[in-house]
Amino acid sequence: MQVCGLWPFAVGTGTPMVGVPIGLQLFTGATVCADPISWFQDANLISNPSVFVLGLPGLGKSTLIRRMAAGGAGMGNLPLVLGDLKPDYVDLIAALGGQVITLGRGRGHLNILDPGEATQAAERLRLAGKETERQQVLADAHARRHTMVSALLTILRKQPPTDREESILDAALKVLDEHHNGVPVLGDLLQVLRDAPPEVRAVALDRGDRTRYNQITEDLEASLISLTSGGRLGETFAHPTDVPMMRDRPVVYDVSSIDDTDVDLQAAILLACWSAGFGTVNVANALADAGLEPRRHYLVILDELWRALRAGRGMVDRVDALTRLNRQRGVGLAMISHTMSDLLALAEEDRMKAKGFVERAGMVVAGGLPAAEMPMLTSAVALSRAEQELLASWQDPPAWDPVAGRETEPPGRGKFLIKVGGHPGIPVKVELVQRELAVNDTNKAWRPMAVPPLPTAGAASGSTSGEDVA
Ligand SMILES: Nc1ncnc2c1ncn2[C@@H]1O[C@H](COP(=O)(O)OP(=O)(O)OP(=O)(O)O)[C@@H](O)[C@H]1O
Ligand SMILES: [Mg+2]
Repeated sequence: MQVCGLWPFAVGTGTPMVGVPIGLQLFTGATVCADPISWFQDANLISNPSVFVLGLPGLGKSTLIRRMAAGGAGMGNLPLVLGDLKPDYVDLIAALGGQVITLGRGRGHLNILDPGEATQAAERLRLAGKETERQQVLADAHARRHTMVSALLTILRKQPPTDREESILDAALKVLDEHHNGVPVLGDLLQVLRDAPPEVRAVALDRGDRTRYNQITEDLEASLISLTSGGRLGETFAHPTDVPMMRDRPVVYDVSSIDDTDVDLQAAILLACWSAGFGTVNVANALADAGLEPRRHYLVILDELWRALRAGRGMVDRVDALTRLNRQRGVGLAMISHTMSDLLALAEEDRMKAKGFVERAGMVVAGGLPAAEMPMLTSAVALSRAEQELLASWQDPPAWDPVAGRETEPPGRGKFLIKVGGHPGIPVKVELVQRELAVNDTNKAWRPMAVPPLPTAGAASGSTSGEDVA
């Protein structure tokens, strides 16, 4: 009875000391280290190197992942931020000496038919006599391009293309691969469709009748025209890529110029960035497997996942296809979304698959969430009643500080519960260090400007509001 009361003997297990230092265990003050790559590779704590972060807006999800990225970079894991909508990561990646690629309406192009470095890598693999790897690299590049065209069509039409259209696209892309010199763009794909080569006509099932072919491909042609002529999704995807992504540096795609109301373009750009990013990782992995380049480890960051998923029926499948890697070795994945309700608001057939993202993640990190979320969350991750209450308490609104006349920090800011399978969660408070604060201000737009006090304010009166402005 007495011993239980002695600090810290009543506490069960310690916390893992492998990985990026995150902060302090909320109840014991012990240091908590965690990141998906170290926990998978060095500590064998999780079954795959991925983390799914959930929590209400503004509680510090991006900040937590930024820490994992910065710490991981120090251990040699290159962070790849495939689509930064805020921008939350640009300052950090720039500070790490990485590559910042800007995309948006009228800012930069990302050609979704560009196989990136896959062609070059395939050539190197051929010269090295690595035929299997070469085949895989080319097959992956082909599949990625096909998935991306289908994804853009899905976003444009709010429903996936039909089976027949998928086969037509597949055949047309193969024709492009074989007969086109240089890197094709969407306009070239449209031209193949119009030229109606025999391979494409065969899968279109036009039965030798050109009029029938035209009828069958009319919708597809219309969609491709919209994509190439600056339709709803603009011209971002229809021109040659301006800045190719590097494989040996941290990278961020800055897509923050896209307006939040431009839902479709946001989703399309996110997908295009993921496709380019995962394609690059695959190439790097294949070259490393063949012993042609040193093995690099990447932490791929997909923030604001819900924005891509809400863009239309069938998007979950596209995300799943794009984010799947041939060889998972050395690649950590961090996915961030708000709540399970975002995932469950999807169309019936997508819902279960979206839940699978959470279920399959090596670790789930949950921040403040409303109590109504708990039944949905517990169906994907086991949470005890105490853990559920803890999460619910972190979403309480901040208290009003009557002395300073403003709100205090939200109680749940920076607090997370790290869950691995059925193990008890580790509650942690993310502690920011001084050097981090400079690259950490995601509320920049809301900071008061340094306005000089009005002459009548009485500079020496000691008014708190004067100090606030200063
Ligand atoms: N551990 C922390 N200590 C102090 N400030 C923090 C901490 N975590 C986050 N913040 C601050 O809280 C604000 C919001 O953080 P952040 O952008 O990471 O939240 P988020 O959960 O990603 O939000 P959203 O869902 O809107 O993307 C930022 O200004 C950040 O600097
Ligand atoms: Mg965020």
